[in-house]
Amino acid sequence: MDTPAIRDQAILVTGGAGFIGSHLVDALAPQNEVRVLDNFSSGDRTHLPDDVTVIEGDVRDPIALQRAARGVDLIFHHAALVSVAQSVDEPRQSNRTNLEASLLVLEQARQEDARVVVASSAAVYGHPDELPVPETAGIDPTSPYGVQKAALDRYTRLYEELYDLPTVALRYFNVYGPRQQGPYSGVISTFVEQARADEPITIEGDGQQSRDFVHVSDVVRANLRAATTDAVGEAYNVGTGTRTTIEELAETIRDATGSSSPIVHREPRAGDIRHSGADTSKASYELGFDARIGLESGIRTVVGSSGPSGRDAGATPDTNRESGSYS
Ligand code: UD1
Repeated sequence: MDTPAIRDQAILVTGGAGFIGSHLVDALAPQNEVRVLDNFSSGDRTHLPDDVTVIEGDVRDPIALQRAARGVDLIFHHAALVSVAQSVDEPRQSNRTNLEASLLVLEQARQEDARVVVASSAAVYGHPDELPVPETAGIDPTSPYGVQKAALDRYTRLYEELYDLPTVALRYFNVYGPRQQGPYSGVISTFVEQARADEPITIEGDGQQSRDFVHVSDVVRANLRAATTDAVGEAYNVGTGTRTTIEELAETIRDATGSSSPIVHREPRAGDIRHSGADTSKASYELGFDARIGLESGIRTVVGSSGPSGRDAGATPDTNRESGSYS
């Protein structure tokens, strides 16, 4: 199913200069009036096209948020503190951004009568008790970050039930792609950097843990679907339905880069989730979303990007049939 075009709308993307947000802005900017609210704590100005309005401010600041959201039709809420480890160290600080500020966003949307699409996470499932995990599985997060996303996810759906606001929560699995950078950037960008430098590729634990890696251009397409669906007041898994072990991933990245890096093992990460994989049937049937980018071609978009920053890095993820175009 083709992704419906979104045009002539006033749209706010919170966290719009960040990894996922900036790819979404790229897809929306040509045909809409796009505003980005970002405090640039981890976002990057060079990732933004020229024709968007940038409001430099914090999503926790009601005045900045009000200014950014005035008159919008649609809000994509991607501003967050994404580090699970930081949420363990500083639960109140991450709660302020990930939950309290999210409630401000939902309230602002209510005032503007704007549709809201929020970034939820597979973290809401904790150690999933079934695989692949459907949206009906138990919500049992194992970190403050997961608790905050679970509450946001529930609030988002509640705003549809209580106030008739069209809302959608998207539960991202392991998102990767160009522009993923910084200290908490995910295993794919870490391995690619290590392989490029011919340094050891460091697997934590035995490497038999598995993840559902979903390319950022697929995540953008899921957002565009969520922005137009009639099936609101719902949460949807955003993954591929395919799991890959970390060991397979290390080998695939070493091959893709032509690197001579050794693959080494170190201590497993404390509290690591063993297996994570999405049951994608609800997103497929109700949202019309199916991921298109396979892991090997997706990894090529990371390897082929010019580095962590720069506008070109993520603009055209792929050129083959599984192209990373957003439509
Ligand atoms: C991911 C998300 C997180 C979300 C969680 C939900 C990312 C970056 N993080 O965390 O926001 O809450 O899913 O389940 O997408 N690993 C190595 N070597 C490395 C780095 C990582 O072996 O150098 C291993 C880790 O131990 C882990 C796996 O790779 O087993 C994935 O790690 P990571 O990319 O940090 O993501 P998650 O922990 O799955």
